[in-house]
Amino acid sequence: MNNTAFTVREMRETDLPTCLEFTQQVKWPHRMGDWQLHYSQGNGSIIDNAQGDIVGCILWWDYGPHYATVGLVVVPEHMQGNGLGRKLMDTVMSQTGERNLQLVATVAGKRLYQQCGFTEAAFIYQVQGQLVGAVQPLPVDAVIKPLDADSLPDLLAMDAAAYGCNREALLTAVAEQGKGLVAYKEGSAVGYAMLRTSGHGQTLGPVLAADDDTAKGLISHLLNGESGFIRFDLTEQAKGIQPWLESLGLSQVDKVSLMIKGEFLPARGNGPRIYSLLSQAFG
Ligand SMILES: CC(C)(COP(=O)(O)OP(=O)(O)OC[C@H]1O[C@@H](n2cnc3c(N)ncnc32)[C@H](O)[C@@H]1OP(=O)(O)O)[C@@H](O)C(=O)NCCC(=O)NCCS
Repeated sequence: MNNTAFTVREMRETDLPTCLEFTQQVKWPHRMGDWQLHYSQGNGSIIDNAQGDIVGCILWWDYGPHYATVGLVVVPEHMQGNGLGRKLMDTVMSQTGERNLQLVATVAGKRLYQQCGFTEAAFIYQVQGQLVGAVQPLPVDAVIKPLDADSLPDLLAMDAAAYGCNREALLTAVAEQGKGLVAYKEGSAVGYAMLRTSGHGQTLGPVLAADDDTAKGLISHLLNGESGFIRFDLTEQAKGIQPWLESLGLSQVDKVSLMIKGEFLPARGNGPRIYSLLSQAFG
């Protein structure tokens, strides 16, 4: 392939309809609102061919000087195998500098990421489906408060402790779009959960909680009054609540690899446990 025929440039908002087409072609569920959220909070790059047509996209999200996640990496099928995926990854790896990097790899992407120095750190379980009936709020040994201007700082502090990095701008933006709950025990925050419109319906994440009962309490209170399609991207720490989620009508549809280049900061986080991701791309 003649590499000079391809130019990397910054992603623009006007690129989003083409990027949405790319993710639809690979059967990912993103809607335009998901793309706008990921774009507005991220750093995107595009590859154009000599005719100015887009032939690849990638984004990364900056969580401070030590951590970033990478995602929405797509090269359309007719252009795959020409080194464009590698060119996108090289672009991001030079932009992110010394940061530790995290991504969730599809089967198609795994080999490319391994070649870029990423290794498998954990699995993520995609659990989703239509709720079969009304979700009753479970009794929980905590005070559950709505996510609002008073509880947002507690949510941000828990998240920073659990992830070992700063996701404040992202979570503040998500809080404005969806709804959430924060759990308190003896005046201290012990967990939070957020729900937003996304993909085929709604996504429930992040969920962070001190233990399974608190996680279930938060989720059941948040789903109370909701219906339709719900998606979770569960961590291995959420295995204990998966059977309960399945009893609500959801099922595991995929198991994907969380890959790391550098250090996996959430592994040494000292906040509540991470049960469910905000999205596979955001982490
Ligand atoms: C993953 C993806 C971005 C790779 O893009 P690409 O332009 O085809 O990748 P490259 O041509 O740069 O290939 C990079 C390496 O991966 C290998 N590779 C690419 N596609 C492969 C495939 N389907 N199976 C095995 N290896 C593959 C290449 O052989 C190359 O290795 P090499 O240097 O040893 O030859 C592209 O396949 C894609 O968009 N897939 C669908 C969406 C997706 O799954 N994205 C990943 C999200 S995490």
